[in-house]
Amino acid sequence: MTVIVEPTERFPYEIRSFPARYAGTGIDPAARKWKEAVDLGFHGDSPTDADIQKTLASEEKDGRILTGAYAASAPDRAWDAGYPVATYASYRKTLNVGAGKLLPAHLISAVTVRPTHRRRGLLRTIITDDLRRAKTDGLAIAALTASEATIYGRFGFGAATHAAAIEVDSGAGFALKGNQPTSTLPAGKPDGTGGSTEAAGIVELAEPLVLKELEPAIFAQVHAGTFGSLGRQDAYRYRVSGYWNYGMPERDKSVRAALYYAPDGSCGGYVSYKVMDRETPSTLQVVDLLATSSPAHLALWRFLGSIDLVQRISRKGAPVADPLQWALADKRRYLVKAVEDHLWLRILDPVAALGGRHYWGDGTVTLAIEDPLHLADGVYRLEAGGGSAVVTQLPDSDPADLRLGAAELGQLYLAGVSVGTLVAAGTVRELRAGAAAAGDAVLGAPLAPHCLTDF
Ligand SMILES: CC(C)(COP(=O)(O)OP(=O)(O)OC[C@H]1O[C@@H](n2cnc3c(N)ncnc32)[C@H](O)[C@@H]1OP(=O)(O)O)[C@@H](O)C(=O)NCCC(=O)NCCS
Repeated sequence: MTVIVEPTERFPYEIRSFPARYAGTGIDPAARKWKEAVDLGFHGDSPTDADIQKTLASEEKDGRILTGAYAASAPDRAWDAGYPVATYASYRKTLNVGAGKLLPAHLISAVTVRPTHRRRGLLRTIITDDLRRAKTDGLAIAALTASEATIYGRFGFGAATHAAAIEVDSGAGFALKGNQPTSTLPAGKPDGTGGSTEAAGIVELAEPLVLKELEPAIFAQVHAGTFGSLGRQDAYRYRVSGYWNYGMPERDKSVRAALYYAPDGSCGGYVSYKVMDRETPSTLQVVDLLATSSPAHLALWRFLGSIDLVQRISRKGAPVADPLQWALADKRRYLVKAVEDHLWLRILDPVAALGGRHYWGDGTVTLAIEDPLHLADGVYRLEAGGGSAVVTQLPDSDPADLRLGAAELGQLYLAGVSVGTLVAAGTVRELRAGAAAAGDAVLGAPLAPHCLTDF
């Protein structure tokens, strides 16, 4: 256990960190109390031993560091001082910054502060210290998902990707454009030979637990090919197969799975789902859908649309620019119920983060960045060409094209919003005429970024 912040008179908490670990011999009492505090913060049930064991064993594989803030004492019969009054976790994965480039990122999760200790600077103290350490460790970028959109901007985070909750009417008449078959090839042709199915591949039902083994490999391919994708934690393969989930250590037998086989017989995607037949209309809920190619994506949707006794398919976390909507014979069957911010990014080191990204455009733009935590502020010239960029920090007195905060830099980093939009919103300032268009020519991307990871 590492002590990160010693208590003082003004801040009477000790902040300590320790790695998530389950030795198999018993649960570390500190980890049990930490997990109790997290579940309290997110209004979950008190965790069982099975829940804690599985969580710690899985989080150990991610190298997750658990941080807690501890009061010196607690009143009689209250939770004792071993229960943290604030929790925070961090670990590292990669972010797809375009053209398959994967940049290491510092991920933040499990942020809670006990109601009785709120608004005393606990989050501010922990996150400020953690971001500084991540930068010292050489990380260029930090990432999180936010329970509320008003919390993290002050710490330099900006909403970089968005995701849609969609509903698709899969009742009578559901069809995709083109004449590919609904699901399986005739028996005896699993290699994809034969007729019009050759290009489309096939979809077949599978035991959901096969996803425990398949999810990491398929996700790795999807991750490498998806701009804005963030590495997934180990727990995903359990969650998507119905094997276990946080707060649900037992198997969820309502989860079903189907696999997509490419014409060469390799598995190129899957969908796991549950049918909520008590809902009206009867609804199929997508648990996870991964496709390594466009044919795989369309074949999996064609399969979902072919399931009888289901009138509606719902999916959370769909891409905002979803090809499905354009593939449907009747595009009005595709309903966007909500679009919400998903991945929030915080640039820790503009030279490394902007220099590490892929660029589709050519050109030069100079950014004056203001950072409330002073991790990323300064004037930076970005010269993009041939897919990459040279980023140079200039003297603070040098003229710039655009003035923006660290949070706006996070919003722009994956081109999830245009410079022009933020100038119109009044959050980015054009320091010379035409600078927004110049910025978009450099930073813009042909596809909206899409993150398939919740954490
Ligand atoms: C969000 C939460 C972690 C904040 O913790 P905290 O220790 O009270 O925050 P701090 O005292 O360090 O406040 C830091 C700043 O954030 C602001 N802030 C804190 N919570 C906020 C909220 N929910 N909405 C908007 N602003 C918030 C504070 O006003 C303060 O602003 P300032 O320093 O600019 O004046 C805490 O309220 C909580 O546990 N909420 C429930 C769980 C949750 O939503 N966690 C976030 C998961 S992503």
